[in-house]
Amino acid sequence: MKYSRILGTGSYLPKKVVTNEELSKTVETTDEWIVSRTGIRARHVANEEETSSYMGYHAGLRALEAAGLNANDIDMIIVATTTPDKGLPNTACLLQDRLGITGIPAFDITVACAGFVYALSVADQYIRTGMIKTILVVGVDALTAVTNWEDRSTCVLFGDGAGAVVLQAAENPGILSTHLHADGRQKDSLYIPSWLPGQCKKDEVPYISMDGRAVFRFAVKALEEVVEEALAANQMSQSAIDWLIPHQANLRIITALAEKLKLSLDKVVVTVDRHANTSAASVPMALDEAVRDGRIQRGHTLLLDAIGGGFVWGAALIVY
Ligand code: ACO
Repeated sequence: MKYSRILGTGSYLPKKVVTNEELSKTVETTDEWIVSRTGIRARHVANEEETSSYMGYHAGLRALEAAGLNANDIDMIIVATTTPDKGLPNTACLLQDRLGITGIPAFDITVACAGFVYALSVADQYIRTGMIKTILVVGVDALTAVTNWEDRSTCVLFGDGAGAVVLQAAENPGILSTHLHADGRQKDSLYIPSWLPGQCKKDEVPYISMDGRAVFRFAVKALEEVVEEALAANQMSQSAIDWLIPHQANLRIITALAEKLKLSLDKVVVTVDRHANTSAASVPMALDEAVRDGRIQRGHTLLLDAIGGGFVWGAALIVY
């Protein structure tokens, strides 16, 4: 039996940081409101050069370096993003071009904030079946470009960034299992009207639109269920988890999940305070941070979860 194993991780954060204090000068909000409702204190905001393919490329290079590989060793590129550089080509092709390689398959997955967990699952299937040996999986988003900076109910929540892993076939786990779900009935709770010319209706703007309370309620329940599903599928109890690496949307959602799992917060990787919600990048950036600062060690059991507009959600249990 083949497994896929994370060989290396990497991430990229845009240079510009916007604090709550700065935001409170442009919209009617306060640091106190944002921190108490979300745990967010600051976010990184991409400039024109820092597109998804640019950020994904730099995160990918770092993951390759950590894996001890170079771009020519990759057999496939999967990019999870909801904010592609262009309508086409896809971001994975643009990233492939930046890496200076050709020929291997390169495609995007559009699954909002759950994108990285979905991409990891797809990559895992390719490796388990023996079709592909080494895959660069990138989660990247620049949601601040589709954020209405005059809408205080959304603009405080999002940030930009990229995270990446290099996955490779191995005899031992590796990724133990992945669990994916979707519920399209929830399509109106969180969405971005199309930004293609002519496709926005008259009263629509191409910005994130969200029913915050509906998202909150659904996220807590769905994430609790999917992590239980992941543990049950591997006959594991919560006590086997060394690190929970949750989607970084809101500290209150993260805390609710940790409580449900009876995990103390020092077993949870939290970046939402500094990164805000970076969508598909949030989980791989948190993973990379905890790998690089030494919290996550080889042999540790990791539980990843994510949820995004759709709704789409999922979890992965991994031996690092
Ligand atoms: N500053 C000050 N006041 C604000 C702000 C702000 N930035 N935003 C909203 N308010 C006001 C509202 O207008 C409302 O005022 P009102 O009572 O006079 O109408 C009041 O604050 C309370 O608003 P609520 O929406 O009830 O606040 P709540 O406690 O639900 O928190 C929040 C809102 C933070 C959006 C929360 O619902 C949430 O986090 N939901 C999850 C959303 C999320 O994570 N989305 C990310 C994408 S999806 C994903 O990744 C899972």
